Amino acid sequence: DSLLRVCLAQFNARNCKEVKDKYGQTENGLYYLTTATGVVYQTFCDMTTAGGGWTLEVGNWANRKTFGTVEAATDDDFKNPGYYDIEAEDMSVWHVPNNTPVNHWNLAAIMRYHTDRHFLHLYGGNLYQLFHSYPVEYNVGAHLSDNGPSIPIVYDLGDKESTKNVYGPYSGGENEGGFISFRAINHERAATAICSGVKPKGGNVEHYCIGGCGFFPEANPLQCGDFTGFAWNGYGTHVGFSASKQMLESAVLLFYC
Ligand code: G3P
Ligand code: CA
Repeated sequence: DSLLRVCLAQFNARNCKEVKDKYGQTENGLYYLTTATGVVYQTFCDMTTAGGGWTLEVGNWANRKTFGTVEAATDDDFKNPGYYDIEAEDMSVWHVPNNTPVNHWNLAAIMRYHTDRHFLHLYGGNLYQLFHSYPVEYNVGAHLSDNGPSIPIVYDLGDKESTKNVYGPYSGGENEGGFISFRAINHERAATAICSGVKPKGGNVEHYCIGGCGFFPEANPLQCGDFTGFAWNGYGTHVGFSASKQMLESAVLLFYC
């Protein structure tokens, strides 16, 4: 079985950047990668954004499952071995409507952006290390003062204004577009993993930051889950603190480069 998988691998590459640079592959799609310890896995490579070579690492934020199939990345929790294995410099994020076939991800996305300042060098080279320094746990600190880093982004689809529009109007009053933020804490000292496209300026981060695990005191257990308080004022209503239906029904795909 392992021999077969090595044959399937075709390239000996640890990430999509190597698939592109060493083997000249320029098509978006599924490729086999090999970790430092020889684990072969399949994932999606974005070969077009900002020069290409982006490796899909996580689809939908969740700590429940480590391994999944890449085909299910928009309808299931997906986190591949590269999440831990790859040493990356930058991240790219695609918001893709649930159940979109792989070959349509790029076109169907409602928001795409990437970082370009090699910020992961400062945080251990991947999210596994970053969240080691900034654990996503209840009661690790206070909102704003103990939040993790906010990194400026370059939009590939959308802009600051359209980012505001995917979150609820009240959320727009307490965040700023043009960033990706990590380990944002709310008023009740509950922590979220990632604020996609925004930087928190207040403490109701549960309405625009994802990956809430652990304890959420406010309206417990309503805010516990991947999309925390995204439906606070009704499902997909885009009223008050509620995000748009499009946002609520899209997977968040995280890439490394
Ligand atoms: O996060 C919103 C919550 O803290 C207060 O909202 O309007 O339901 O009282 P509201
Ligand atoms: Ca709140």
